Amino acid sequence: MILITGGSGQLSTLIAQRASEKGLRFLVGSHKAADQEAGKRRIDFDDPHSLDFSDVETLFMVSAGYEEDDVVIARHDAVIGAAERQGVRHIVYTSLIGAGDHLGFALAHRWTERRLQQSAMSWTILRNGLYAELIGALAAPAGGVIRAPFGTGRISSVAREDLADAAVTVLCDPAAHANVIYELAGTQGWTIPQLAERLGATFLPDTLSEARSKLSTPPLLPFQPPMLMSIYSASAAGFLQAQSTDLLRLIKTTPRDTLELAAVIASEVSGLS
Ligand SMILES: NC(=O)c1ccc[n+]([C@@H]2O[C@H](COP(=O)([O-])OP(=O)(O)OC[C@H]3O[C@@H](n4cnc5c(N)ncnc54)[C@H](OP(=O)(O)O)[C@@H]3O)[C@@H](O)[C@H]2O)c1
Repeated sequence: MILITGGSGQLSTLIAQRASEKGLRFLVGSHKAADQEAGKRRIDFDDPHSLDFSDVETLFMVSAGYEEDDVVIARHDAVIGAAERQGVRHIVYTSLIGAGDHLGFALAHRWTERRLQQSAMSWTILRNGLYAELIGALAAPAGGVIRAPFGTGRISSVAREDLADAAVTVLCDPAAHANVIYELAGTQGWTIPQLAERLGATFLPDTLSEARSKLSTPPLLPFQPPMLMSIYSASAAGFLQAQSTDLLRLIKTTPRDTLELAAVIASEVSGLS
């Protein structure tokens, strides 16, 4: 049996839809699942008593990354430890693209990768690129101007839907992907000036200092501004371009047009559509 965690999330929802279309037998874990909900288990990474992996051969572990590093590391350690003790054979983990090493949330991903590699289970690490949907939302223009300080370098982002397709390829035959790290970042990048042109907007980036002061007002949680600032800094310094054919290998078709996808999301966020 496969168990897919993070069931209420956008990525897990897409993976579960595709797994269902492929006829895979699976359960969905979610910290929001009610007890006895059909096809679901309540799996809360923060509650050790909920980590029931009985009858689970392959655990698809979606990172639960919206927290400080110590919390995320403790969560992931608890899940991997419980899976080891309960006889799970294989864990597929959604990590972060190698080009994202300078991002503020990379550390917890790399810690989790190392913890998995040191376990007795087999594993597959899906190093997901930054979502095109996320870049589009962050770069949404206000009054026709994009202020987000991404710089002018190429960003290799990826559509959640392509990541879900790649995930299901692995779930269809986990053993064929045992102990492999995949870099899933799409094959081409684009720049924020290109996005601005697509939207008919102007790119007038703030300085990092200006962006940080805009982020320091509620409702952001304390750990969020540094995370977002690290995306701007890494992009402006040209670290978010990645070249890999791993996504093509797993989805076996042309990846979705991420510039178009980011433009659609940016328009929605700006209220232009
Ligand atoms: N590559 C990127 O650009 C990018 C961007 C943002 C986030 N991420 C990471 O990728 C993951 C999936 O992305 P997404 O877009 O699907 O995120 P999302 O829609 O915001 O969903 C949040 C995810 O966090 C999980 N979660 C929250 N609290 C949890 C807990 N206590 N125990 C277990 N899971 C918990 C949720 O699962 P439940 O059903 O259990 O609530 C859900 O899967 C995120 O959680 C984050 O770690 C990646």
